[in-house]
Amino acid sequence: MKYSKVNSAYVSGFEVKPIIVEVDINSKATQQIFKIVGMPSTAILESQKRVFSAIRNSGFTFPNGNVTVNLAPSNIKKQGTHFDLPIAVSILLASKQLNFDINNYYIFGEIGLNGEIRGVPGITLLLLDIANKNKNTKFIIPKENEEEAVFIKNNDVFVIEKLIDIINIFNIEKNKMYKANPKKIEYEKVESSLNFSEIKGQYFAKRAAEIAAAGFHNLLMTGSPGSGKTMIARRIPTILPEMTHEEMIESTKIYSIYGFLNKVINKRPFRSPHHSASTASIIGGGADSKPGEVSLANNGILFLDEFPEFRTDVIESLRQPLEDGFVTISRAKLIATYPAKFMLVAAQNPCPCGYYSDNEHECSCSLNQILNYNKKVSGPIYDRIDIRIKVPRVKIDEMFVSSSEETSQAIKKRVEKASLIQIKRQGKLNGKLDQKEIKKYIKLDSKVESFLKNGAKKFKMTGRGINRILKISRTIADLKGLEKITIEDIAEAFQFRGDNNI
Ligand SMILES: Nc1ncnc2c1ncn2[C@@H]1O[C@H](COP(=O)(O)OP(=O)(O)OP(=O)(O)O)[C@@H](O)[C@H]1O
Ligand SMILES: [Mg+2]
Ligand SMILES: [Zn+2]
Repeated sequence: MKYSKVNSAYVSGFEVKPIIVEVDINSKATQQIFKIVGMPSTAILESQKRVFSAIRNSGFTFPNGNVTVNLAPSNIKKQGTHFDLPIAVSILLASKQLNFDINNYYIFGEIGLNGEIRGVPGITLLLLDIANKNKNTKFIIPKENEEEAVFIKNNDVFVIEKLIDIINIFNIEKNKMYKANPKKIEYEKVESSLNFSEIKGQYFAKRAAEIAAAGFHNLLMTGSPGSGKTMIARRIPTILPEMTHEEMIESTKIYSIYGFLNKVINKRPFRSPHHSASTASIIGGGADSKPGEVSLANNGILFLDEFPEFRTDVIESLRQPLEDGFVTISRAKLIATYPAKFMLVAAQNPCPCGYYSDNEHECSCSLNQILNYNKKVSGPIYDRIDIRIKVPRVKIDEMFVSSSEETSQAIKKRVEKASLIQIKRQGKLNGKLDQKEIKKYIKLDSKVESFLKNGAKKFKMTGRGINRILKISRTIADLKGLEKITIEDIAEAFQFRGDNNI
């Protein structure tokens, strides 16, 4: 019997499913037939041509007769080009051109017609998931994915560039040369070229940005053109705490699935999709249910500039990730769930022309235009944005003051301290507390509570609005390192409440 099997796996959403690549060769058959069964996608069917040529161009022979490849279990649809290499290896084993015990190995890689091994998406997730479940497993992956082995500590990972290299992996003398040798993760960051010190004045907006960063609160800035909204947003990553090791792993997995090969994410992402973006690109989806911007922004910032200009269905689709911190996308029979814990930073003008309520420019919009513009973002979405501020243009005099502004480094120190307090107290940041957790972790003295109650009445606030004030004031107190929330903290929080009207 000419039969062999090789371990591989595939990525379904954020999950890894093991696959066995079986090969059976019937060399008595008179006709040459090469077939792949087991619900392969079209990309996998094309693998036949690549594998056929690669085997012959690497100095091996493609076996005569009937060659059947089965991807087991055969009841699930598979996708990805990374089955090329396990298919080729399995054929070479079944035809006795290779003689190795390959039971402990998992193999992934795309093959070129000339036998070259090419990088594939999803390697970070594949390695981590399989290594966690089985300490003795070894891996063979494309050299182009080498950096993604950085999180693997105890399992051997071999990287190859050509199909013929496979022979050396099983040669104890030679295989050392093929061990993955990724660069060490840099925990010390290269400084960003942007800095808060470049923003003149705007103390209210800067304070809001600091509080938002400290509690991972969503932030909405409304203001006329040129007031510095985009400038502020782009500098928020410079004051966020460093990523933890776990966050780096999670984000690297997402980027790997998305198709960024060899990219280790050690800096909080800042994603700023254009307002013409489709729902699939923001939320995720497409033929292979890829992660979208909300997941690429996970552990970092999703910046939606010109917020009301986004398509209504795109804005509405943010509801689930804003509420749950993950996103579920389904397409045909594929359902994929990805993390989507981002901090939303949105910016908008108060009206289509941009100058409503500006002191120096006249607004040229009709009342209806203004109202319609502000209706684009629905209540339930606004409700999930804790901090909402107006950003007026900085006064010309302020632009020319020579005194230096506080640096991002200085602000970041306070933010990091405040974040640690929150993680210690409740395991997550204040902006991510749900209603139950707010009750449990945010307690007010009776005097402070009655101050909040009076304010809530005066501003006709909803329950959700009150919860927002509680969360913001908790972060304000945490920035001071104080356990008790004071009346002063609540009063400051009220300044950031905004409202649905302009
Ligand atoms: N407070 C400030 N300090 C220094 N420069 C500023 C300040 N405010 C605005 N600027 C300058 O003005 C430019 C325009 O600001 P920015 O693009 O951030 O405005 P915006 O509020 O996003 O406007 P729009 O509504 O048109 O998008 C900035 O690139 C910066 O050079
Ligand atoms: Mg802008
Ligand atoms: Zn206007």
